Amino acid sequence: MITIKNDKEIEYMRESCRIAKETLEFVGRHIHAGMTTKEVDELVYKYITSCGAYPSELGYEGYPASSCVSVNEVVVHGIPSDRVILDGDIVSVDIVAEKNGYHGDAARTFLIGNVSEEKRRLVKVTEECFFKALEDLREGSRIGDIGAAVQAHAESHGYGVVRALTGHGIGKSMHEDPSVPNYGKRGTGVRLRAGTTICIEPMINMGTYRVYMDEQDGWTIVTADGKPAAHYENTVLITKDGVEILTL
Ligand code: MF3
Ligand code: CO
Repeated sequence: MITIKNDKEIEYMRESCRIAKETLEFVGRHIHAGMTTKEVDELVYKYITSCGAYPSELGYEGYPASSCVSVNEVVVHGIPSDRVILDGDIVSVDIVAEKNGYHGDAARTFLIGNVSEEKRRLVKVTEECFFKALEDLREGSRIGDIGAAVQAHAESHGYGVVRALTGHGIGKSMHEDPSVPNYGKRGTGVRLRAGTTICIEPMINMGTYRVYMDEQDGWTIVTADGKPAAHYENTVLITKDGVEILTL
């Protein structure tokens, strides 16, 4: 069931999303080579709680941290650890803030120091995929329009579009209907209505789209070929004549 948010709920969503956005800006100002991914997670926990909000990922289905910090070949759901971030890494930080019972979800892939041209291009194209999905997106658009736009742009650069994970609706729960795949066909899937809030989150691999989950921890998603991946996510409100990006 896709929930439609009323004005009051949209106000709450705006606030949680603003906190999520600011948290990532804060991380962007402090993340650097030599830091561990656990230290990044500490920044996230401190910032979100200092806003009177809660880092929704902490304890979600047993998830042990306040953020997902995914380095290079880790696509998403990297558990913060003693892994040291190195010069030349690309690091995706994915966070969710909850305040007044509503969640805001966003992710950025940060460039650490001297990053190769091919990794820079991957990160740039992944962000572009998100914005391609917003062109023509409004009430009446279909879920397949989003996936088709992301897939076309990523594949035109020879990249792999992750299929095993998708974007999602969001609101009182971190994950709500509908599922928002990054692949698909224009004109297919459910129609979106104004007042729907969804997370659009391209997960794009430099090589194969295939991924696997780390059997040991049950969370970490890694590219099957070990090549790098990038991730970019915002929470978006569908309106009558377009969209409002709540985490930008
Ligand atoms: N923020 C992630 C998403 O985009 C959720 C990760 S769930 C966690 O859907 F438990 F791994 F944090
Ligand atoms: Co997220």
